[in-house]
Amino acid sequence: MLVSAKEMLDKAKAGHYAVGQFNINNLEWTKAILQTAQELNSPVILGVSEGAGKYMTGYKTVVGMVNGMLEEMNITVPVALHLDHGSYEACYKCIEAGFSSIMFDGSHYPIDENVAKTKELVAAAHEKGISIEAEVGAIGGEEDGVVGMGECADPKECKMIADLGIDFLAAGIGNIHGKYPANWQGLSFETLDAIQQLTGEMPLVLHGGTGIPEDMIKKAISLGVSKINVNTECQLSFAAATREYIEAGKDQVGKGFDPRKLLAPGAQAIKDTVKAKMEMFGSVGKA
Ligand code: 13P
Repeated sequence: MLVSAKEMLDKAKAGHYAVGQFNINNLEWTKAILQTAQELNSPVILGVSEGAGKYMTGYKTVVGMVNGMLEEMNITVPVALHLDHGSYEACYKCIEAGFSSIMFDGSHYPIDENVAKTKELVAAAHEKGISIEAEVGAIGGEEDGVVGMGECADPKECKMIADLGIDFLAAGIGNIHGKYPANWQGLSFETLDAIQQLTGEMPLVLHGGTGIPEDMIKKAISLGVSKINVNTECQLSFAAATREYIEAGKDQVGKGFDPRKLLAPGAQAIKDTVKAKMEMFGSVGKA
C-alpha cells in the first residue's frame, strides 16, 4: 500500500539520512526502482512530473500501475507516489487519482499567492492523509530551455511557507535540474544553514540530485536535507546501457530485438544508479 512521505522523511531528518525521490517514466523505471528499494530495504519516493504523467496516459494509469506492482512484487518497504513540481490544477488531479504525496510548485507566484495556494492545498491533501511539499526559490536548469544558475531562497520566505503546515520544503540553494555546468558554484551551505535554523524540524528537499558530488550531498544531509530528487542520472545511465547494447549489435543476435531483452541492460543500469544513490544518501536498511 502506498504511504504518505511524511513519516519516512520525519524519520530521515531525525536519523540524519535522506530518502531518494526517483522520477519514473514507464513500467521499466518503476519496476527497477521498486526492486532496488526492496532489495536494499530502503524507503523510496517515486516522483512523477506532469510531463511524465501525461506520457504514461494520465495519473490514474500511474496509480494503477504502481499499486499493482506493490502487490504483485510483494513490496514491503514504504513507498510514496509523489507528484513532482505540480501546478495547482495537477495537485488536485493527483489527490483525486490516488497519489500519496504531492508537490505544489508555487515558486513562480508572488510570495502572497504562493502562500494562499499552498495553504489551500495543505488542507485538501491532509484531509486525505496525503503529504505535501512546497517550494521557495525557483530551481533552474535545462528544463527551462536555458541553463541558469539556481536561485537561493530567502530564509524568511521559507519560514513563512514552512509554517503553513506543509510536510517538507524544497528550497533553492544554488541547485539546478539536469547536468551541472562546468562553472557551477556549488551548493550554498550558508543559505541551507540559515533556512534550517528558521524552519527547525521541517525536512528539507534537495532537487537536482544528478551530479552533486558526494561530499556536498553529505554536508547537505548534515544541514537538514532529508529528501533528494534524482531524475536525469537514471535517464543518462539507461540511455548509455541501451546504446551499448545496440552498438554491440546485440539486438540483431537471436531474439535480441525482444523488448524484454533490449530494455534489460537499461533497467539494470537504473537499478545500479538507484543503489549507488541510496547508499550515498544513507537510506539502506532504514525501511
Ligand atoms: P535531476 O534531473 O537534476 O536529477 O533533478 C531531479 C529533480 O529535482 C526532480 O524534481
